[in-house]
Amino acid sequence: MCGIVGYVGPNIDDKALTVVMEGLARLEYRGYDSAGVALINGPTVDVRKRAGKLANLQRAIQDVPMPAANTGIGHTRWATHGGPTDENAHPHYGGSDGKLAVIHNGIIENFHGLRTKLIAEGVQFRSETDTEVVAHLLARAYQEVGDLTKAMRTVVAHLDGAFTLLAVHADEPGVVVAARRNSPLVVGLGEGENFLGSDVAAFIGYTREALELDNDQIVTITADEAVVTGFDGTPAQGKSFHVDWDAEAAEKGGHASFMEKEILEQPLAVEATLLGRTDADGALVLDELRIPVEHLRSVNKIVVVACGTAFYSGMTAKYAIEHWTRIPTEVEMAHEFRYRDPVVDKRTLVVSISQSGETMDTLMAVKHARELGAQTISICNTHGATIPRESDAVLYTHAGPEIAVASTKAFTAQITACYVLGLYLAQLRGGSYADEAQQVMRELHAIPEKISQLLGQMDRVREIARFMADTRSVLFLGRHVGFPIALEGALKLKEIAYIHAEGFAAGELKHGPIALIEPGQPVFIVVPGPDTPHGLHGKVVSNIQEIRARGARTLVIAEEGDHDVEPFADEVIRVPQAPPLLEPLLTIIPLQVFACELATAKGLDVDQPRNLAKSVTVE
Ligand code: F6R
Repeated sequence: MCGIVGYVGPNIDDKALTVVMEGLARLEYRGYDSAGVALINGPTVDVRKRAGKLANLQRAIQDVPMPAANTGIGHTRWATHGGPTDENAHPHYGGSDGKLAVIHNGIIENFHGLRTKLIAEGVQFRSETDTEVVAHLLARAYQEVGDLTKAMRTVVAHLDGAFTLLAVHADEPGVVVAARRNSPLVVGLGEGENFLGSDVAAFIGYTREALELDNDQIVTITADEAVVTGFDGTPAQGKSFHVDWDAEAAEKGGHASFMEKEILEQPLAVEATLLGRTDADGALVLDELRIPVEHLRSVNKIVVVACGTAFYSGMTAKYAIEHWTRIPTEVEMAHEFRYRDPVVDKRTLVVSISQSGETMDTLMAVKHARELGAQTISICNTHGATIPRESDAVLYTHAGPEIAVASTKAFTAQITACYVLGLYLAQLRGGSYADEAQQVMRELHAIPEKISQLLGQMDRVREIARFMADTRSVLFLGRHVGFPIALEGALKLKEIAYIHAEGFAAGELKHGPIALIEPGQPVFIVVPGPDTPHGLHGKVVSNIQEIRARGARTLVIAEEGDHDVEPFADEVIRVPQAPPLLEPLLTIIPLQVFACELATAKGLDVDQPRNLAKSVTVE
């Protein structure tokens, strides 16, 4: 939540403004209810900020241009304290001399007490934000110590909560100071210029060399260096890394939306996530896990923690992981896990799934699991993010940057990574599925080609979506691995098309939800392949008949060659054949395309749906 950019470079015209505005454009997906920028301009800091999307700020700067500068900070906001107004937009001035400005991501939990105290002491507030409290505290501290880094050190000692803070002071041109606690911040290392960002997208157009920081660290950047210290002043070193994607990967590349582009990138996302995870003999090799093999062998319970789409990927993977490893596996929403006294000990393996690696609910669940003695593995798409750093081991998905708020390619990559992990555990532990692991890997390797084929036959799905643009409610049914796919299909539609959508387990229908069926009610049904064990296919076909008999309009997602569904389907959407556990990697595709096309037909901003942000860094 909230995008943050900082820059110090050479004195070339409007370089600072260009870098900051480009960074904000790339980070706008993190929050887009207001935006602002601050540049050091002689004896003061020049601030421009506007409520609404970045375009409003861009227009304001076009109308009244900002000065040339070599130092700047910028912010794109997802409101927490105070509504999305010009006044509440960041940056915020501290003090009254216009010399110091601050931007912030996160929440200062003790802001109320601090604010009351400052007001009692005569400080005048211009906004309702928690951030302004920090700005005033920093301005005071600066007056006392005359050094922005030292002032930051003094102030963070008084703050509770999660935060990334960036500050500039007109008396220290050429310096940006940043502090982080449980909130994202990376440093970009250029030549004669340095950058700060909520993630590497902020500066990917300028450098691919980056530095990750630990919690409770302060970094001071100038054009020539980035100096890291702990909150207590102890010298520290960031961990450098090279970003393995470029600016082009974070651009739309001719597509109408990032979501459309990312849906189409799924064959590559799945393929890249499988790449390099087997040796010459086809055995799984996960050196990167760095958890002793004996420990993994002794695991007697797996708990998957995640939120939203990532949670549904975990729900999908549970079926496969339990089947292959015979280890009891629970999947829990990360925000619920921590507060219910979970039964977790050192033989529990807690697997977190997060595209951003910054979701606060998931991060807190991981920390709690570690406190309870569990081993933690992070499945993550973002290098250098907080959750993998706080975990014992990480298995990266290689989906590339996901910019659209609605997650698509990360979802299929997450399922893939969970399957790789499940098969690896099965291989380690022996048993019948150890022998089959290589066979399943071969089947997984065939999936990207099948997704490509499927993506090539989505015209009818798009037509149906356009036709349904005025629909007010859509239901989704699935069974077994099709159940989480129904939930994910409904989530996609809710979040980008603002349509009431619900996913149900098909078997649950008769226990209540079938009362919702009335003539014309559209229902998507994810049908398991005819080979699925336990006669599930036939059971779902019966469910289709039951709702059709009550007037539902049935939109059936079924395997090629499955003719049993035809008499009961108003529409059949075909997916290539695959083994039952791998079907979700295909059946989700038409549901993603459907939501994207329907939201587009409604004229909505598919990439930046209302009230949402890509990376949810508050609890
Ligand atoms: C929905 C969506 C969200 C995220 C959730 C977790 O399309 O994107 O539900 O899946 O907020 O985010 P990450 O994976 O970054 O932890």
